[in-house]
Amino acid sequence: MNFFHYEVPPTAGLPLHLSDFFPSAHSLEEKLSQFIGTHNVQIECSATSALVVALTSLKNLSPKKKVIISAYTCPWVPIAIIHCGLMPVVCDSNKEHFDFNLKKLESILNDDILAIIPTHLAGKIADVKKILPLAKRNNIYVIEDAAQALGARIKNQSVGLLGDIGVFSLGVGKGLSIFAGGLIVAKNKKLFSHIQKTSAAMVSNNYLLELKRAIELFFYYIFYRPSLLRIVFGIKLRHHLKKHDFIKAVGDDCSFKFPIHRVGYYRKQIGANAFDRLNTFLSINRKKAIARMKALEKIKNLKVVTSKHAHETWPFIVLLIPSEKMRDQIIQDLWPKSLGAGRLFIESISNYSYLKPYFEKKDLPAGKDFAARAMIISNSPWLTDKHFSKIYRILNSHIAKA
Ligand SMILES: Cc1ncc(COP(=O)(O)O)c(C=O)c1O
Repeated sequence: MNFFHYEVPPTAGLPLHLSDFFPSAHSLEEKLSQFIGTHNVQIECSATSALVVALTSLKNLSPKKKVIISAYTCPWVPIAIIHCGLMPVVCDSNKEHFDFNLKKLESILNDDILAIIPTHLAGKIADVKKILPLAKRNNIYVIEDAAQALGARIKNQSVGLLGDIGVFSLGVGKGLSIFAGGLIVAKNKKLFSHIQKTSAAMVSNNYLLELKRAIELFFYYIFYRPSLLRIVFGIKLRHHLKKHDFIKAVGDDCSFKFPIHRVGYYRKQIGANAFDRLNTFLSINRKKAIARMKALEKIKNLKVVTSKHAHETWPFIVLLIPSEKMRDQIIQDLWPKSLGAGRLFIESISNYSYLKPYFEKKDLPAGKDFAARAMIISNSPWLTDKHFSKIYRILNSHIAKA
């Protein structure tokens, strides 16, 4: 086995530089404040923890118990809700999209809904503005899940600032990563101050875990490159694929036991140093992804998921293949090839075996269809035009055969 075989990561994470590890006077909070456009920025140890802090804050303000989430989203979202002693309620999406179906959303609103969590999946923008009047009328908070969308904007306004609260991830493979990290924003000063107080009361230091995370971040710097990624990522991925364990292959094997601790000063400094390259990185990736999207859209019956907003981010490109059978054939062909093509979340959210007991049985045709036909192509800078052409040819040949 060649351990140094070229491996493309599934997402476009910003690679770290050695110089990022040298202390500087930069503050990550300050830089993110400027970038997002609010002073109200709170760093947590993951987006999951950020959701827990946000939901706990809201729980302290209201006796309501239910939180509405999308039919196709990350399993960490309902896990955070359940962790807070709240109940996730799933709302189906629009056909061939990940965003809420507004009519269905309206039909499930009741007096016990504390919050609605729209998701800006894959840097694509959910239509938060449409749900705001509904939420306001029913006294419901809106938490934008922008875990995959740091840098995405609508008419110059960052995602996360449209609703009451926004949550971003600084986890592995995200645009900006401190190995594990998250971010809460809230434009309302009073609500933000309440969130800060909640965080101060419930999140404590864990110096040992923080040291581990700093070391992991250094290993991320070393191994997050195509010549070494196989050792820490590719070999394990192909092991899971051989066993047909797709849940493990994409990391959907989430656990109800997850750490909540304060992020240390040093890791934040590393993030602040790397942050200086983020905007240029996102712009280059956006340009490239749009060109590739246009090429992909020439394949008949292949759909690229986009909301056609000017300032989306592109960690990867989400495709909808005409049928589940064809998606599975393409994936079988492409996923083991180290080209950064694979799958996103494996199931519609209430279909994960470990989450089933927490959801009421409900028909979610659009969410299920999305899970059955979706696949992704990495937008990492290491996916060269030659690699992309290879992926394109494989996609084209499978779809043309049908
Ligand atoms: C949409 C979405 N929400 C929440 C999360 C949780 O983020 P984290 O891994 O930082 O806890 C993720 C993780 O990838 C995600 O994709």
